[in-house]
Amino acid sequence: NADIGTDLRNSIRSIPDYPKPGIVFRDITTLLGNARAFRRAVDELVQPWAGMKIDKVAGIEARGFILGGAVAHQVSAGFVPIRKKGKLPHKTVNVAYALEYGEDIIEMHADALVAGERVVLVDDLIATGGTAEAAVKLLRQLGAEVLAACFVIDLPDLGGAEKLRKLGVPVRTLIGFEGH
Ligand code: PRP
Ligand code: MG
Repeated sequence: NADIGTDLRNSIRSIPDYPKPGIVFRDITTLLGNARAFRRAVDELVQPWAGMKIDKVAGIEARGFILGGAVAHQVSAGFVPIRKKGKLPHKTVNVAYALEYGEDIIEMHADALVAGERVVLVDDLIATGGTAEAAVKLLRQLGAEVLAACFVIDLPDLGGAEKLRKLGVPVRTLIGFEGH
């Protein structure tokens, strides 16, 4: 993936050895706090689908809510929160996915979508793709047509974007960081 300008890349802060030794944490709070970078990221995330009919933008808790909410507003779509287990009050559908140790569950309200709706999935970052893959399964369970999955940051060495493409989902990422 080609980079979308060095200012966007430079707006992300890299924190070595967080949350544990050997991991470089890619911190988007500095991007979010930079008005120009935030607008640029939101515009660029859905640029290939601009002008197409998008019914819903689905964002993954927690960081995907910030970007997904802004994208939904930008394209005049509804917003659907995909949440970690136990947070949604009404009837839900859920999908379990593997973590480094153990598993986690994400949920969505069962009436958040109707079959055939055109949905774009948004999150801040794709690493192994486990979270996003579970989100795609959740959306498809309710009959959504997943138009695309969009992320500001890709960690290509972890293969997440490739995993989603194998599911038939077009993937858009803005900035790649080599290594883990
Ligand atoms: C991070 C990131 C993605 C996910 C990517 O979220 O924001 O949602 O991990 O990892 P994967 O591609 O390997 O599944 P995290 O679970 O740390 O939670 P947060 O967004 O609530 O901070
Ligand atoms: Mg997240």
